[in-house]
This record gives sequence, structure tokens and C-alpha cells, in this order.
Amino acid sequence: MEKGKVDALLGIVFGDEGKGKVVDVFTPKYDVVARFAGGPNAGHTIIFEGKKFVLRSIPSGIFAEDKINIIGNGCVIAPDLFMAEAKELETAGYDLKKRLHISKRAHLILPTHRVLDRAYEAAKGKNKVGTTGKGIGPTYSDKASRIGLRVGDILENFDSKYQALKARHEQILKDLNFTDYDITEEEKAWMEGIHYMSTFPLTDTEVEINQYLKEGKSVLAEGAQGTMLDIDHGTYPFVSSSNTTSGGVCTGLGIGPKQVGEVFGIFKAYSTRVGSGPFPVELFDETGDKIREIGHEYGAVTGRNRRCGWVDLVALKYAIMINGVTQLVMMKSDVLDSFETIKACVAYKKDGVILENVPFETEGCEAVYKDIPGWQCDLTGITDEKDFPEAFKNYIQFLEDELETPITILSVGPDRAQTIIRNK
Ligand code: IMP
Repeated sequence: MEKGKVDALLGIVFGDEGKGKVVDVFTPKYDVVARFAGGPNAGHTIIFEGKKFVLRSIPSGIFAEDKINIIGNGCVIAPDLFMAEAKELETAGYDLKKRLHISKRAHLILPTHRVLDRAYEAAKGKNKVGTTGKGIGPTYSDKASRIGLRVGDILENFDSKYQALKARHEQILKDLNFTDYDITEEEKAWMEGIHYMSTFPLTDTEVEINQYLKEGKSVLAEGAQGTMLDIDHGTYPFVSSSNTTSGGVCTGLGIGPKQVGEVFGIFKAYSTRVGSGPFPVELFDETGDKIREIGHEYGAVTGRNRRCGWVDLVALKYAIMINGVTQLVMMKSDVLDSFETIKACVAYKKDGVILENVPFETEGCEAVYKDIPGWQCDLTGITDEKDFPEAFKNYIQFLEDELETPITILSVGPDRAQTIIRNK
């Protein structure tokens, strides 16, 4: 961590890499923690002082009194969900209003955006994206269409702006014949959320962050989702609607590329995906079920079963390239403790052709695997990397050689103490 720089902590596959667990390792080192993209589609499970919290929109530096937390301009925010999330933290004794600043330029998710999310999904038939239903896509669409409502709009003539956008949405829903919805209760909570949000510092966070950097403060940009869900670089159209990659750190916070320092890429020792879309390493057999069971791979936001498979080096190499990853963080290594053989996807095969790069269309790609001997022992009690079994050391070395990037942090169990920082 360098003073006056923004480091990025990014999920580099399909999200759910377990960022929540390592924020303890990261956040104490930084003065500011900022979210730059996405919204309540994220769910970072954080255990703090023995209590479990699921953060959706609020950055994970919120537990420390001395940190500024920022919801950046690249984010979208649902006032009702934000209020519920924030009040839970306030009830637990965290004084949010002193520590959380929200960008005036972040976009608001309206109740009708969520209805539109459902309507668009229903209209897609077999090609559903499998969204989280939080209105993310429709909100970013309105942003790009230049009709969206921003947090700063709360401060002036808000009701008429809200009614105009809501009416526009209602017309679209009517045109889609999607009229079986009732947002009366939701809207009440949403309006309460608007009022509640207006009691927070709503600021020009981009100016603020640049000022902090000038003063030599350090900033952690906390990612959400993952590279393969990026609107530009993911498995389009089965993606989220924002830039979840390191480029999104610049646009989503308003900083220049030279202000980015380290880019930490988080991945799991295996792969998961929620929602639809191509997933060449997916296992449909009992091995996939075993990984899901041991790794507790069920969605934090929707509770859906996560699709599971072996580690995908094609996707990881691509993500390292797209993000300029400088250090890797490998999570949940212990989930593979009992496997005799571990597989790593080293290439894709499509129409008989071997592909080493992520193609334009991943649909129809099969994984080509390399077998690696498993370590078949319990990693969870190991606190020093020199005590790792040889086979696990070999697995790490194999990944580092293939990915040409050091793995500097390794997680070997769910507890915060089961995190090993390597001296690289
Ligand atoms: P949306 O972001 O709700 O529009 O969903 C688009 C796709 O991204 C769906 O496949 C979701 O399951 C996936 N997605 C969105 N947020 C997350 C996340 O935090 N973790 C994993 N997948 C996500």
C-alpha cells in the first residue's frame, strides 16, 4: 500500500470470491474505502467482532471509526435497501453518518426499475440473464439514456422528477403488458429511504477523493461482482451492467489511471457462477455437488445454488490482463482438502479448436483440463506457509507459473485467522 494511491481489490471471475473475508486484512491499512460500481446486487458477508453483517452498498471500512467510506459516482443505490442495511449497522452501534459519504452523481434505483428488471427478464424467455432482481440493469440503462435520477436530485424538486421517471417506467411496463405489480408498500419504504439518505453527507466524492490523495491518504477501491460479469469484458449478455474491472475504478470514483497503485485480484481455488450464461468449467456431477456443499456455495443475495467447477486459468489469465492485476489472493483453498485429484482448466475447446484466450462467444466452449495431485490433508490449522503440504505448494507454484502473477494472500479457512500473508 502506497500513500496517495488508490489500490483496487477486485473479484476477477464471477464474483462471490469471498472479498468479505479478507477485508479485515485490507481495510485497516487504508484511510478511505470506496465502492466504485454496482449496487445492492452485491452481498459481502463480513464477520466483525463476532457478528455477521451482509454489506450490499456500504463499503466494508464502515466498522472502523477512523475511516471515511465512499459510495462513488459509478454506483447505483436503492434508498430503501440502503436504509435497511444502514439501520442494522446503526443498531449495532456504528455511527454511520460521520463515516459514510455518498456521491451526488450515483444513480438511484427506483421501485419501478425493479419491476422493469423482472419484466425484461420475463420477456427474455429462455435467454434470461438470471439477474438479482434489484433493478441494476434498468437503472444503468436510464443512466446511459440520460434520463436517470441521481442522488444529488434529492436536494431539489425531487418529487416531480421522481413522478416523471416513474410515469415513464409505467408506460414501458404497460407496453410490455407487464401490469401485474403493486409497488405501494415498496414505494413508501423507498420514500422513507430517500428522506433517510438526505441526512447523510451527499457530496462531490470525486473532488473529495482527489483531495485525500493529495494529502497523502490511501484509498481502497472495493470491487463488487467480478471481471466475467463486467458489461464490456464479461460473458455478454450474461453480465451485470457496470464496469466491475479496474477501469471502472477510474470512472466510478473520478480518478486518473496513474493514481491506481496495486490491483489485487481475488479468486477461489475453484470456480463458481450464479445466474445464467456460459461456464465451461461447470461440473454437473457429484464433484460439483461436493464443492458446493463443502464450500457453502449458495448466493448471499438470492440464496440460489451456485454453479461449481474447477479453477479456470483461461478466465483468470484474461482477467489478470484486463485488470492489470499485480497480486493475487486465493480464497477457500481448504475446500479442496479432500480431493485426490484436482483439475485446472488450461484451455477451451470449441468446434474441435483449442483456444487459449477467452473468445468472443464462450457459449459452446468445453474445458481442457490438467490433472494435479490433491494434498488430501487439512489445511485449516496451518498458520505458516512453510508448513503447507508439498502437493499444495506445488498447486500454488503451478498457478503462479501459469498466471505469471504472485499469489500473496491465501485463505485456508472461514475464520479471519486462517489467512496467510506470503512474503513474495
Ligand atoms: P444483475 O447485476 O442483478 O443485473 O445480475 C446480472 C448477473 O450478474 C446475474 O448473473 C447475477 O447472478 C450476477 N451477479 C450480480 N451481482 C453478483 C454478485 O455480487 N456476485 C455474483 N454474481 C452476481
